[in-house]
Amino acid sequence: MVETLDAKETLANVPLFKDAPERALEVAASVVQLRQFPGGTTLFQEGDMGEALYIIHKGLVKLSKVDLGGYEKTLAILQAPEFFGEMALLGDKSRSATALTLGEVEAYLLFEDDFNKLIQAYPQVSINLTTTLAKRLSGTNDEAQILSYKDAQGRVAYVILRLYRSGVIELSKDGTATVQLTHQELANLAGTSRETVTRALKVLEKQGVIRTRPKEIIVMDIDGLEEILHGIRE
Ligand code: CMP
Repeated sequence: MVETLDAKETLANVPLFKDAPERALEVAASVVQLRQFPGGTTLFQEGDMGEALYIIHKGLVKLSKVDLGGYEKTLAILQAPEFFGEMALLGDKSRSATALTLGEVEAYLLFEDDFNKLIQAYPQVSINLTTTLAKRLSGTNDEAQILSYKDAQGRVAYVILRLYRSGVIELSKDGTATVQLTHQELANLAGTSRETVTRALKVLEKQGVIRTRPKEIIVMDIDGLEEILHGIRE
């Protein structure tokens, strides 16, 4: 009972249940299953059959795909209260990307039958689902445009800004933000090579918008990064 109440409270903040009737939250809370996963767990792999949608309660999850050349491309890093894994339940049933936990993760699993019943019974849940899919599509379109014509500095500036805007990295009191990712992980996000990222970071550091430490990038000037992305600052 306590668990169901906790789940209901968590689900109320999940975009999938925004403005949904109380009853939808109660039903969802009574059917979801809370699971804990250690860091580095592959929740599922691209091509696996989909059984459940995941609602993040704690921690970060990386979604990625391997391209035809064998390179990994990170699609998104998600955190609570975001959800993922809905596409296989709606479409051809196979996972469109691989999901990996970055550190310990707690997630509520909503299994396919329960998910289908919820979207059929509560139109608001279906509307929310469509809204999330539309936002992701629009983000993907923006990204495709930016990554196809920007130079290396612009691409790296873009992925750092995207991480910052999605709340994955937080601003500290002195106005700086720390990105705890390796150059290879940034390369996977920017769709480029590790060597190119390392060179681009050096240039950005010279411009005074970031500082680098091993496995860490400290963002000194968010506005400056934005100017570099939009070509206002060379
Ligand atoms: P599914 O295909 O079931 O499994 C992988 C999940 O990754 C997919 O559902 C979506 O929930 C999520 N996903 C796929 N592409 C993106 C993207 N571009 N941005 C955020 N999430 C995505």
